[in-house]
Amino acid sequence: MVRVDHRQVPWWKKGVIYQIYPRSFQDSDADGVGDLVGIKSRLDYLASLGIDAVWLSPIYPSPMADFGYDIADYCGIDPMFGDLTGFDRLLSAVHARGLRLLLDFVPNHTSDQHPWFIQSRSSRENPKRDWYIWRDPAPDGGPPNNWISDFGGSSWEWDASTGQYYLHAFLTSQPDINWREPQVREAMMAVLRFWLDRGVDGFRIDVLWHIIKAATLPDNPINADWTPDRTQRDRLIQLHSTDQPEAHAISADFRALADSYGDRVLIGEICLPNDRLARWYGTANRPQVHMPFNFQLIESVWDAAVIRQSIADYEASLPEFGWPNWVIGSHDAARIAARVGDAQARVAAMLLLTLRGTPTLYQGDEIGIGKVTIPPDRVRDPQGLRQPGLGLGRDRSRTPMPWDGSTHAGFSTLDPWLPLNEDWPTRNVAAQDRDADSLLSLYRSLLALRRSHDALAIGEITLVDAAEDVLAYQRRHAGESLLIVLNLGGKTRPLMLPTKTCVAEVLASTLLPSTASRSHRAFRSVDNVLAPDEGLVLRLKEKH
Ligand code: GLC
Repeated sequence: MVRVDHRQVPWWKKGVIYQIYPRSFQDSDADGVGDLVGIKSRLDYLASLGIDAVWLSPIYPSPMADFGYDIADYCGIDPMFGDLTGFDRLLSAVHARGLRLLLDFVPNHTSDQHPWFIQSRSSRENPKRDWYIWRDPAPDGGPPNNWISDFGGSSWEWDASTGQYYLHAFLTSQPDINWREPQVREAMMAVLRFWLDRGVDGFRIDVLWHIIKAATLPDNPINADWTPDRTQRDRLIQLHSTDQPEAHAISADFRALADSYGDRVLIGEICLPNDRLARWYGTANRPQVHMPFNFQLIESVWDAAVIRQSIADYEASLPEFGWPNWVIGSHDAARIAARVGDAQARVAAMLLLTLRGTPTLYQGDEIGIGKVTIPPDRVRDPQGLRQPGLGLGRDRSRTPMPWDGSTHAGFSTLDPWLPLNEDWPTRNVAAQDRDADSLLSLYRSLLALRRSHDALAIGEITLVDAAEDVLAYQRRHAGESLLIVLNLGGKTRPLMLPTKTCVAEVLASTLLPSTASRSHRAFRSVDNVLAPDEGLVLRLKEKH
């Protein structure tokens, strides 16, 4: 295990990232959709929560077919969210609180309303024709190959006026960019410079592993394991449409540009198994993204043995200089509290904030928004609408932030674009703020603990043996040794301490998070037990 030199630790290694889904964070202009002024008005909340950086899902001009991931102008702000002046104000206000701001960079595709695509599709001779991926039909007149869009259906859309198909990995209105065209690369680098010059602290890069395709666009192999309960995309193995060797050079170029601006950070959205994920760190001499997102906690079953193994496998897969990261929620995934329930959502909070690596916390998970039922007439997500019946709808994790018990939960004065969580009158920020034992209070105390203990922020990690259903690991740094024990089940389990140690202090508990209630059990001995759903952060002392 590599020891981290405390003095040289960049902010993004010690920091915690908070993802904002701008449509659903705070509305300020009574249209039922969140905006930048709204986000600015909630910065004190974020600062008091104890996070370090905010990542905003896309805020650029967009027809909103994929709610902003279909960009019509990379260097502007959608009027629904505000304007560039408002963005600059937001960025200054973020920085004034000692926080950082990351934007979402979506380089794989644009909207079909982007001027580049409008020009590209206007004629085969247009200079921007090659900025996108156009091909003649197959001999039978059908699509050029068998690729399937991630949102279902063929990846190819016929353009009658120019007599060719164009490629789209997602919606037909999200044409894929041709990253083999040098002018596109230059234009995209200019986009990054535009925002870096304005002072943004980095980017989350959307579907980075999709960015370039095999040059000859061969058919993808059939996936023999596919079953009808899986997405249409999974009928094929995306061998030629994703994770191409040439993509790594592009990723390294992004990094070189970011590094030329100082301490900026790049996080890549990459859904691949560990061995292929690790390659996106690049090499020490030619690094790529600082952190390829690690989605294992989102994909894994909630089982101590399985999670223990995935932590071990992930840690083992990292290059020596590669910094880990962990995610338990996003605007694409099911809510963690919906997956594991209220009691285990507290354990999940402790897991996320005590593992080695930068955590990304998704808005609303800090108050445990759980399962939200979206009435059929209010479903908005294109992925859910295009492949109904598979439970793919993403509206469930995009519902507005419930701030308080007032009309529309203080999110807006108008009925929000998506319904609120049904339990918003009691599950909201203000209510949990008042309750020292709420999930929000637990998040606050864990974030503070992480900040005050380098063992948690940058220490090494060692998995330790534990009872059934229990996940346990030690975090160590500069003479401090912490033990995290998490009961992922509903039964009482023994608390097995490593031999040669005894507990000095309980620093945090998922069951009794408030300081007052914790003090009476500050010391525990070896024969103690873990209650159902209990997670503890313990400071250990060596026995003499
Ligand atoms: C990413 C985004 C998702 C979007 C897709 C296409 O996976 O997280 O929300 O639909 O890319 O841009």
